[in-house]
Amino acid sequence: MALGVTKLFPDPPPTGSPMLAARPSGDVRNFLALRKSANKLFLSEPGPTPGELQQLLEIAVRVPDHRKMSPWRFITFQGQSRLGFGKELARIAGKKPGAEERDVLEAAGLLLRAPSVVAVVSSPVDDGKTPVWEQELSAGALCYNLLLAANASGWAGVWLSEWITFNKDVDALMGLKQNERLAGFIYIGTATAKPQERIRPDLSGLVSAWPDSVPD
Ligand SMILES: Cc1cc2nc3c(=O)[nH]c(=O)nc-3n(C[C@H](O)[C@H](O)[C@H](O)COP(=O)(O)O)c2cc1C
Repeated sequence: MALGVTKLFPDPPPTGSPMLAARPSGDVRNFLALRKSANKLFLSEPGPTPGELQQLLEIAVRVPDHRKMSPWRFITFQGQSRLGFGKELARIAGKKPGAEERDVLEAAGLLLRAPSVVAVVSSPVDDGKTPVWEQELSAGALCYNLLLAANASGWAGVWLSEWITFNKDVDALMGLKQNERLAGFIYIGTATAKPQERIRPDLSGLVSAWPDSVPD
């Protein structure tokens, strides 16, 4: 850890260390019960420093990953790089059929909505062993884990896809390989307004218990 970099998390235990498979914590239960994404229109400075963001990413990658493929990678945007990338997004937006000036301006400002933005790239390898679907699920878990790590460290965040996640020109701009696609962009900063709780799913329509005995 470089001098002057705030240490957010304990050091990772050495590989092979005995670990606790359950870690009861009222704080974590409260945290999970009350967690909320930020509103994308109300994110601002301060965000994590580059050193702090690095630590968030070190925690984010601690997700289930079948056969330890590490089927994901990150592209980070902080400070000026968001402006340069925004210019390229504006160029791409301007090429879309029927594009208007406001679409171009909106594209230029997309990444300026938060001080730190992390593009999560799903990077599965079809090796005939770990299904690609499982590797993609691991990328989703990683996105959520990054949000949790940011929230637990005091920053607000939101996971957004928007058109830039599904555009071939943006993929090319970001250097995505044939097997890769974007899982989305995680915006991290400080909330300038409190997000409101939303309607939550009613479990009654979502859960069914397998019966004790299968009827004849
Ligand atoms: C993969 C994924 C992509 C999303 N993309 C968008 C988006 O493009 N625009 C948007 O307004 N919300 C998007 N959302 C939803 C926001 O993240 C939303 O605010 C979030 O689901 C709120 O959840 P929470 O109330 O549990 O924090 C996306 C969510 C996911 C999981």
